[in-house]
Amino acid sequence: MGVVDVTANLGSLSLKNPVMPASGTFGCGSEMDEIIPRSELGALVTKSVTLEPKPGNPGPRLFETACGLLNSVGLPSPGIDAFVRDELPFLREAGTALIVSIAGERACDYTRIAARLSEEPGISALELDLSCPNVDRGLWFSSDPGLLGEVVAAVRGVTALPVIAKLSPNVADIAQMARAAQEAGADAVSAVNTFSGLAIDIRSRMPVFPRGPGGLSGPAVKPLALKAVWDIFRGASLPIIGMEGIVSARDALEFILAGASAVAIGTGNFVNPRVMLEVIGGIREYMEGSGLESLGQMVGAAHRLPGPGANS
Ligand SMILES: Cc1cc2nc3c(=O)[nH]c(=O)nc-3n(C[C@H](O)[C@H](O)[C@H](O)COP(=O)(O)O)c2cc1C
Repeated sequence: MGVVDVTANLGSLSLKNPVMPASGTFGCGSEMDEIIPRSELGALVTKSVTLEPKPGNPGPRLFETACGLLNSVGLPSPGIDAFVRDELPFLREAGTALIVSIAGERACDYTRIAARLSEEPGISALELDLSCPNVDRGLWFSSDPGLLGEVVAAVRGVTALPVIAKLSPNVADIAQMARAAQEAGADAVSAVNTFSGLAIDIRSRMPVFPRGPGGLSGPAVKPLALKAVWDIFRGASLPIIGMEGIVSARDALEFILAGASAVAIGTGNFVNPRVMLEVIGGIREYMEGSGLESLGQMVGAAHRLPGPGANS
């Protein structure tokens, strides 16, 4: 068997392989070290960190649905000072790229965190969580291309690190949002955050979460997320980290063929803690079996449709 090149290229950010945890689903990786050596991942992605400490939402925070998971975690965070002091030293020793996810309620929250993190060594990129459905202004920035562009441009102005904008699927035209991020200077987009969803307890006759709605993830929404990646690939031209519903190498390959240069796995980690390693192995096997030499050959390959409508 030949040696396949699984390097993932996200603009100026190059990853040893295309598989990473989705923000908020892997902690710092410390609890998982014996099951998954962090250095084997393409990148480590942190839980979103906010400027000030935040407790997150009251419980319950998780609710299982048919083939999916609703969450209302609500971005609990130690705040940027404690994050830099207590978590970053361990995170930067991961032996792989480190993507720090940041969240805020105002553009200046993002810029203050980004500026602070830019002074720290060992960070590979910043992911802007612009799309959490579980906090009051969570979907504010990702629902309006103007606001989204303002935050991305503001962060771009204070950091030399690659900036990844995490987009919401809860919009009419996600490609328009990706273009807004691109024009504002984002290096890549993550697509997508969770879908706004709801579960109701028929005994209490109330929503299961005190806040009402939550964010839906898992295989239930995979085809919707795949279509979002497909639309962004056709309508914008910046690298995409695809996610939502990936639980196997086959799922990951579908996202890559739809246009993702890398993939993230969240809910799947809760079901099978070794899933990320299995997906990396499965992508390699598929490439070897198909005679493909580099991951890049597969990115967006499904768009080479024959006949009218083909874009390449
Ligand atoms: C329990 C939980 C916590 C999450 N926390 C965050 C977060 O802090 N920041 C963020 O950008 N996304 C967060 N997400 C969304 C994931 O990063 C990701 O977009 C989504 O879960 C990927 O789909 P998958 O779980 O089906 O793989 C969270 C998701 C879950 C399930």
